[in-house]
Amino acid sequence: MTEQRLVVLISGRGSNLRAIYQAVADGRLPARIVAVIANHDKAAGLTWCQEHGLPTAIVPHRNFPDRESFDRVLAAEIDRHRPDWIILAGFLRQLSNGFVERYLGRLVNIHPSLLPAFPGLHTHARALAAGVRWHGATVHFVTPELDAGPIISQGILPVLAEDNAEALAARVLALEHRLYPQALGYLLDGSCVLDNGRTLWRRGYSSPEWLGINPERLI
Ligand code: GAR
Repeated sequence: MTEQRLVVLISGRGSNLRAIYQAVADGRLPARIVAVIANHDKAAGLTWCQEHGLPTAIVPHRNFPDRESFDRVLAAEIDRHRPDWIILAGFLRQLSNGFVERYLGRLVNIHPSLLPAFPGLHTHARALAAGVRWHGATVHFVTPELDAGPIISQGILPVLAEDNAEALAARVLALEHRLYPQALGYLLDGSCVLDNGRTLWRRGYSSPEWLGINPERLI
């Protein structure tokens, strides 16, 4: 498989970026991270990139009067690196429709909930407040509607009786670090594509007919 070019967009600590970097370094992903772009210079992940020799760029959203002008400069920076895939890894800016359409099918995101439940912010606290028994993370194609694009993969874990938002967030994050490289693998080897607003799986796969599990029976 040919090596594919990844541009990763971050806003914060970049732990998912580090998980993707590790998967590339281990040979689990036939890819190269050609640039990491942040929307402000305080993103902690940038320091880590510099220490690991990853090219970085900053497009500070505060310098732009509106979303469209920010997105235009962001797109120009992305295009300079000729990426096959644009990976949102904790990139906490909503993107304009024009930007999303430009990269449709090549733009993916990870979200810390089992979408379509809990789009937006504070997903772990909201999951606890709703009393769900299962929670997790979703990798999806990005479409103009926030956190609503076709799903590629989901990781799921039980909500434990003693969970608070911090404990749950930490377990979900560890799950994300396994889920995101795996989901990217499906994209890079062509197992799935965005097709007419849906995720189309090119190869057959078998799945169980149903699963019925109550986490309390497992503890
Ligand atoms: C991750 O939990 C990711 O799912 C979330 O931000 C965190 C980034 O952490 N993304 C969103 O909430 C997007 N809607 P990281 O910077 O350590 O990868």
